[in-house]
Amino acid sequence: MCTKPHPIAIKAYHMFFDSNLGDMGLFPGTVQVEKEVISQLGELLNNTNATGFLVTGGTEANLMALLAARNKAKAEKPEVILPHSAHFSFNKICSMLKIKAIYLPLDSTFRVKVSEVEKKINKNTVAIVGTAGTAELGAIDPIEEISESAVENDVWLHVDAAFGGLILPFLKESPPFDFKLLGVTSITVDPHKMGMAAIPTGGILFRDKALIELIKTETPYLTGKTQFTFAGTRTGASVASAWAVFQFLGREGFEKIVTNCIKNTTTLAKGLEKIGYKVLCEPQLNIVAFRGKNTKKIAEILGKKGWFTSYIPQYDCIRVVLMPHTKPKHIARFLNDLA
Ligand SMILES: Cc1ncc(COP(=O)(O)O)c(C=O)c1O
Repeated sequence: MCTKPHPIAIKAYHMFFDSNLGDMGLFPGTVQVEKEVISQLGELLNNTNATGFLVTGGTEANLMALLAARNKAKAEKPEVILPHSAHFSFNKICSMLKIKAIYLPLDSTFRVKVSEVEKKINKNTVAIVGTAGTAELGAIDPIEEISESAVENDVWLHVDAAFGGLILPFLKESPPFDFKLLGVTSITVDPHKMGMAAIPTGGILFRDKALIELIKTETPYLTGKTQFTFAGTRTGASVASAWAVFQFLGREGFEKIVTNCIKNTTTLAKGLEKIGYKVLCEPQLNIVAFRGKNTKKIAEILGKKGWFTSYIPQYDCIRVVLMPHTKPKHIARFLNDLA
């Protein structure tokens, strides 16, 4: 789900490789660059008040969201409600934060059964998680309905849009998933995925400034005096790389790239069906999951031919992510080998 960073991201990364956002007082310029990236992400996700940080990736971003949610709720036996399709990072996070994971079943389109959410909310619920673009299938949970439940029950809703967050805003039509929905409290959105920033660059956004106080740590011997991120020393190079890509591409540039990725996705999905493979669900993002007669074996054979696809045992399928560097000639060659 990561791609080769954009050339301008690489250039900017080198210019900032000695900056450290762990000590914010020493690097005020880099702090400002991060603020600008967060502000652009906030604008894209329909909230100009959003506050947040660039971290190492979706895992750390999800960790920060659940840490803040747990600190806010102060539940005796904290629980989080998650779709079965939630990213495996939540297993690590729940184990670290000692939060019990309550998993919900999916419907036939691989999205969480929203009717189940309500049943699981109780006094120990610290957050509900929804995914806007699952890692395996690119499925988008019904965030709008989940948001309604979150508002009604006054529960934190975290949206993991690590992958989808830099695709959905650039589509002509997309289901609502961001801060426009009143229940959405925090969002993970990773510039190192579809944002073509340097690896690693993840992002965590909170609905408002007050929420970051929940994860504040005093750092008396540093010039910055406080930190909000889990990581102490934190590179500004990633931040600069994201900033540069955003400036260089602008909304129009991203729209073009995303449109092309979706076009390639449709070509691949149609091509697969034509040669007898079953596409598991209609792609909503630039991810295609398909199945053949002996899918695991097919994945192995593809590997021998130099195609390193992911085989997903849970769904017995092969997943292909059509990243921005993919060209029609790659798809044609892939389909030919599969045929
Ligand atoms: C939806 C989702 N959330 C979280 C993550 C974890 O991100 P990272 O590997 O950057 O920590 C991924 C990674 O692919 C993802 O797709």
